[in-house]
Amino acid sequence: MPRLSSLLLLVVLCLLYSEGTRERRVSNVTDPKCPPRKRNMAALTGQTCQRPCERRGCAKSRTCVCDGECGMSCIQSGLSCPWPVTFENAEANLAQDSSRFGGFMEVMCNPGFRMANGQEAATSRCQGDGRWSFTAPCEDALNHSSLCKPPPEIENGFHEDGPYKTGNEVHYWCDYGYQLKGPDTLLCQENQEWSPVTPACQPVYCSRPANVAEATLVAVHQSEYPVGTVIYYLCNKDFYLDGSNRVVCQENGTWSQLPYCRARCPILAKRSRIIYQKHKLWFYEIPEGLVHHGESVTFFCRSQNKTCSFRAESQCFDGQLELPDCYDEPTYLQYYLFPKRVVSEIPTC
Ligand SMILES: *[C@@H]1O[C@H](CO)[C@@H](O)[C@H](O)[C@H]1NC(C)=O
Ligand SMILES: *[C@@H]1O[C@H](CO)[C@@H](O)[C@H](O)[C@H]1NC(C)=O
Ligand SMILES: *[C@@H]1O[C@H](CO)[C@@H](O)[C@H](O)[C@H]1NC(C)=O
Repeated sequence: MPRLSSLLLLVVLCLLYSEGTRERRVSNVTDPKCPPRKRNMAALTGQTCQRPCERRGCAKSRTCVCDGECGMSCIQSGLSCPWPVTFENAEANLAQDSSRFGGFMEVMCNPGFRMANGQEAATSRCQGDGRWSFTAPCEDALNHSSLCKPPPEIENGFHEDGPYKTGNEVHYWCDYGYQLKGPDTLLCQENQEWSPVTPACQPVYCSRPANVAEATLVAVHQSEYPVGTVIYYLCNKDFYLDGSNRVVCQENGTWSQLPYCRARCPILAKRSRIIYQKHKLWFYEIPEGLVHHGESVTFFCRSQNKTCSFRAESQCFDGQLELPDCYDEPTYLQYYLFPKRVVSEIPTC
């Protein structure tokens, strides 16, 4: 969006708004005439955005009004900008009888001076942060032989402000959800033209999200998804969600970390007891003989001299509950003929 035409648009918009505030009307929160919030662009011109108010209201002493690139914002009632203000090589005049929020001031270069874009005057607006919007400094008109025209404007993106002196570079950025194609800087050449080619901002999409084993994807079926899209994975019954079930299409066109759905683990020790959830149990005393992903189980191992037992722990990980190295499964005969002598039943060391 060209700076000048957007300024003119703002002039019109804000005149409408100042009309509104004069009558102490509360402005319409969803006013379609207000540009959407472009925080990056506002920051670039040194404007500090106040709290947005599209969805929520404002605190008592603030009103929801349009604040240029910041969009609909909560502005301190009765806010005004400093006045008078002085500029080097320029003169400033208020466009109306006060310097309050939404009002305008005309900055006019002294004779023989011009702004970077070749204009002799610019309009500055009293912003919601209590500051006047930026106007390019007035420079000696003779210096203009070393200035480029304002660099090309791009859709869904913006560039640094001037002055655009030969040999200087301007940086380009894209709005949220768009990616720069082409160079991110242009150079103001000796012939006062910009080089190389103007970049473009292209929308970024995420491709179809991957399947997660044992999960159901909750998302609208599309071939591509815009940045900011949120999808969900639901683990099937008896599977444990490891990670976040909320997955977002990120600014670089990739999905945020997908979760895992972790399986429960079968208990492989069938002929000795184990300690599970602080209870000493046979495997058949545990529902389905399965423990959940992440849970720990304590096994009993026989001491070297075989007279007593000690404990060894293992943790269930996605269907795998490893038996500790020291664990020996009692034989069929030990288990049936001498159940009191299996490793879990003898005294502990
Ligand atoms: C004109 O250019 C010279 C050299 O680049 C600089 O020193 C001077 O400040 C400029 N004049 C104005 C009014 O900007
Ligand atoms: C995309 O962005 C995310 C978050 O900033 C980052 O973690 C990831 O490594 C990026 N991926 C690629 C392919 O650049
Ligand atoms: C067997 O070994 C354990 C420790 O390993 C020890 O506490 C115990 O006294 C030993 N018993 C015999 C009879 O040596």
